[in-house]
Formats: sequence, C-alpha cells, structure tokens
Amino acid sequence: MPRGTPPCRSLRVAREYEASGGRGGGHGKVAVATALEAGMEVVAVLDDAPTKWGSSLLGAPVLGPVSAFERFLQKDVRFVLAIGENRVRQKLASLMAGVDWATLVHPRAYVHATASLGEGTVVFAGAIVQPMVQVGRHVIVNTSAVVEHDCRIGDWVHLASGTRLAGSVEVGEGAFVGAGAVVIPGKRLGRWSIVGAGAVVVRDIPDFSLAYGVPAEVRRKIQGEP
Ligand SMILES: CC(C)(COP(=O)(O)OP(=O)(O)OC[C@H]1O[C@@H](n2cnc3c(N)ncnc32)[C@H](O)[C@@H]1OP(=O)(O)O)[C@@H](O)C(=O)NCCC(=O)NCCS
Repeated sequence: MPRGTPPCRSLRVAREYEASGGRGGGHGKVAVATALEAGMEVVAVLDDAPTKWGSSLLGAPVLGPVSAFERFLQKDVRFVLAIGENRVRQKLASLMAGVDWATLVHPRAYVHATASLGEGTVVFAGAIVQPMVQVGRHVIVNTSAVVEHDCRIGDWVHLASGTRLAGSVEVGEGAFVGAGAVVIPGKRLGRWSIVGAGAVVVRDIPDFSLAYGVPAEVRRKIQGEP
C-alpha cells in the first residue's frame, strides 16, 4: 500500500503454532504497529493462544482464535498473516478461503513505483524496495531490509531485518534470509532455503539448503516439501 492510501480496516491474524517453535509474538507486534502507522484501523487480532483472548496488542483487541476469521468476511475487513514462520503463513493462507488480504507498507519504507508487491506482503520501517523489483504474496520485507533493482522475490519469503539483496537477486518461494545477510548481484537463493544471519552469499544456494558464514557455505539439506 503506497503512501497516501486512505485509512482502511485491517485484521491482523496471529497464531501460536507448533511449527513456529513457540517463539511467536514479536513479528505480530511490528505488523500491528505498521498497520497503525499506515493509517489503518486494526479491528481485531486473532491468536490461537487462549491466554491472550481479551487482552490487547498495541491497543488492538485480541478477540479469539484464527478460526474466528469467518466472522469478519464481507465486512470490508482485510487480513494480514502476522507470523514470521514461512510455512505457517502458507498453511494458514490455504485454510482461509475467501479472505481479502491487505498489503502493508510502513510510511517510512520506500517502495519504488515500478516495484510490485503481492497480496498479504508487509514492508516494515526503513525497508527499501528499488525499481522493477517483483515481490510475491505474503512476503515479509522486515525492518531496514534493502531489495535492490530487478530482484525477484517468491511467495512466502521472509527477508529478516537488515537483509541486503544486491541487484537482480532471485529468492525462491519460502526462503528465509537471516538478519543482516548480504547477497551479491545476480545470485539465486533456492526455494525454502535458509540463509543464516550475517551470511555473505557469493554463490547460488540450492533449493532446501541451509547456508551460513562468510562466504556462505551450504551446511545441510532441509528435509521435506512444504
Ligand atoms: C543458521 C541458523 C538458521 C541456525 O542453523 P543451525 O544449523 O540450526 O545452527 P546451530 O544453531 O545448530 O549452530 C551450528 C553451528 O553453526 C554456528 N552458527 C549458527 N548460525 C550461524 C550464523 N548465522 N553464522 C555463523 N555461524 C553460525 C553455531 O555457532 C554453531 O557452531 P559450533 O558448531 O561451532 O558451535 C541460525 O543460527 C540463524 O542464523 N538464524 C537466523 C535468525 C535470524 O536472523 N532471525 C531474524 C528474525 S527477524
């Protein structure tokens, strides 16, 4: 959503999900903050942890479990999957048929007019998305991440805070790029690959591989199709 978009209603969805390792919460907080800064009204937060029902998150009411989303359909409400774990966002999106997804851009992020952002994608404060970049659906461009010209980012990707992608980098669907990692121009990160924090990627990373270090080396394969 570019700057100047009129206020609209948005529903943030979070879930304490086993596959997320139970860390949940921090990403959702930033997503709510971003929606508010972008001039949206956050009408509800949905979270599967019963202990959170009835509480509030940055002033937004936590109303119940994710399964309650159907109550909000056809009410001019848009949703965001505010969950950092890529596989969990993918799974929930497939379960939430009929949802109108919001695209969130913090007012102090920069997204060039020729860049495209898919539905459900979030771009946090300080992030930069340069000309001709294509970003897929339900992608996280986290705080201060830089995505240089002509990059192509697949669906379900998470670019963690401070990621630096040089020009024409391709990131396959579901890949996770750790905080502060750097990728030199034209390299490809494979589907569902993981790049560790602080890595410097100077060679392509194959699909389903975990890599880290300077320069980044593949350390092991990741099992299982999403
Ligand atoms: C790479 C990563 C995914 C973990 O991979 P892993 O294989 O499970 O790694 P482990 O934690 O088992 O550590 C294995 C070894 O790698 C080292 N290591 C782990 N991550 C590393 C990294 N990013 N860079 C360099 N070395 C790393 C560990 O120190 C350990 O070394 P040792 O065997 O000498 O003790 C994780 O460490 C990481 O970098 N995650 C990114 C987190 C992040 O950026 N989150 C942002 C949220 S916005």
